Amino acid sequence: MSWARRAVPAAVAAVAALAARDLLQRDHALRRNFPVLGRARYLIESIGPELRQYIVAGNDEERPFTRDQRRWVYASAKQENNYFGFGTDNDIEHTSGYPIIKHRTFGRAVPPSTPTAGHDVTLPCAKVLGAARGRARAFRPESVVNISGMSFGSLSGNAVEALNRGAALAGCLHNTGEGGLSPYHRNGGELVFQLGTAYFGCRDEQGRFSLERLKDLVASAPVRALEIKLSQGAKPSLGGLLPAAKVSAEIAATRGIPAGRNCVSPSRHAEFSDCDSLLDWVELLAAETGLPVGIKSAVGDLGFWEELATLMRDTGRGVDFVTVDGGEGGTGAAPLIFSDSVSLPFQQGFSRVYRTFAERDLHESVVFVGAGKLGLPDNAVVAFALGADMVNVGREAMLAIGCIQAQKCHTDTCPTGVATQNAWLARGLDPARKSVRAANYIRTLRRDLVKVAEACGVEHPGLIGTDAVEILDGRTSSIPLDRAFGYRPEWGMPSAADRAEIVRLMTAEAPQGGSAPPSPTAVG
Ligand SMILES: Cc1cc2nc3c(=O)[nH]c(=O)nc-3n(C[C@H](O)[C@H](O)[C@H](O)COP(=O)(O)O)c2cc1C
Ligand code: SF4
Repeated sequence: MSWARRAVPAAVAAVAALAARDLLQRDHALRRNFPVLGRARYLIESIGPELRQYIVAGNDEERPFTRDQRRWVYASAKQENNYFGFGTDNDIEHTSGYPIIKHRTFGRAVPPSTPTAGHDVTLPCAKVLGAARGRARAFRPESVVNISGMSFGSLSGNAVEALNRGAALAGCLHNTGEGGLSPYHRNGGELVFQLGTAYFGCRDEQGRFSLERLKDLVASAPVRALEIKLSQGAKPSLGGLLPAAKVSAEIAATRGIPAGRNCVSPSRHAEFSDCDSLLDWVELLAAETGLPVGIKSAVGDLGFWEELATLMRDTGRGVDFVTVDGGEGGTGAAPLIFSDSVSLPFQQGFSRVYRTFAERDLHESVVFVGAGKLGLPDNAVVAFALGADMVNVGREAMLAIGCIQAQKCHTDTCPTGVATQNAWLARGLDPARKSVRAANYIRTLRRDLVKVAEACGVEHPGLIGTDAVEILDGRTSSIPLDRAFGYRPEWGMPSAADRAEIVRLMTAEAPQGGSAPPSPTAVG
């Protein structure tokens, strides 16, 4: 037998063996869905930095998430080395708007120096959600990092399950998104139930909101809070559309709609039509369920916020939390003009909303939540300095469970099984394994937030003040964060009582750092 005749069957057998191995393994959705072919990605990824460095893009050029940012999330999720060598490759000196966090030499809190120290530290919210308005089921969220609303429908069932199990492992909250509460949300993770304009999961046969159904639903699952979705940064003012082909029996049951028909969300709520009626509805939901109730919104015209905050001050009715979504936020699908140009980016939008509440002395009695690429420590730290009490992570959590930023979420062909209803593609994503990655990522982000807080001399990221951040304005000048966003010096912080309590909680838990033993001649 010639060499070639022996080689061909051997090669075919080798490829078949590789394919079998890919199909049977559960670590990599891409390889499970695309046996053998999927390996090409890992090969190209491994030589990608060199190729890009000379031919294509730099480490900080890709969007929405740069290669460096994604590498940090992937490595954190896999508990691999997420450090970077040789110093920053960001163009700090020439990037206008670049935030710099100012560490303190002799701060109150001292960070431990081992890389894994604090990894399992709990990082609770500095405010008690719902306490200011005496809600029956007020509680202190265990984690300042939580999973943002992304519906079953836009995400696969396996992805939702991975995130929910990950939330349970990491001790954080998982927002259902507006697509209702599916069986995949019932895997141990505590929930924030989101009410969108279509009231999926709590509507009657005519599509009207049903209070009784809402009460039954929240009694049947570990729902800790309700979030009324007014808008989201990537597509404010638009209702959603799930095409008939994606409305499976399972999605139909979760949403309370007929299967196999287009599922259209209206662009406006039917239960309220202005700030006054919104606050009435908030109070009704809170009274009937006992849960804290908040709103989620992107920021455009400020009139809405001014009227809302004024009514809250003057009437005593009020939302327990406000989630501000930045215009840079993600979506399953949206028209380009809305994603690119409608609504303010996070820092601009959030600071305007915070100021509006602070000017009316309401900032200490509302829990502020931020979203919009805040699953990266540098962005999150600036959000905390501006007054955020918690951050929600959406796409970063998707990256942690395998998303490769192919940006095909709107086509139902997501190659990693994250954002698809295609059963074959979704099957590649193993919820049990990916849940561990989601939890690892969230824990790492929390750990980094604690470390940065300690570098700034405080025990908790919520205690990082605006004085700890400056915005670079080119090579020779910078502007303090409070001046950049029109803050008074005392803004951006919880109340004195909340500050004292969070310091007590953190110092009871977190590992303490320090120095080597002092020499006999040490002077201080
Ligand atoms: C696939 C996908 C689906 C989403 N679905 C919802 C939703 O149902 N409700 C909502 O309020 N926001 C939704 N969002 C927005 C996110 O909750 C989040 O606010 C936004 O992506 C910003 O956070 P990020 O930058 O961490 O992704 C979705 C985002 C993505 C990527
Ligand atoms: S891999 Fe691509 S299509 Fe899938 S979730 Fe990520 S960005 Fe969307």
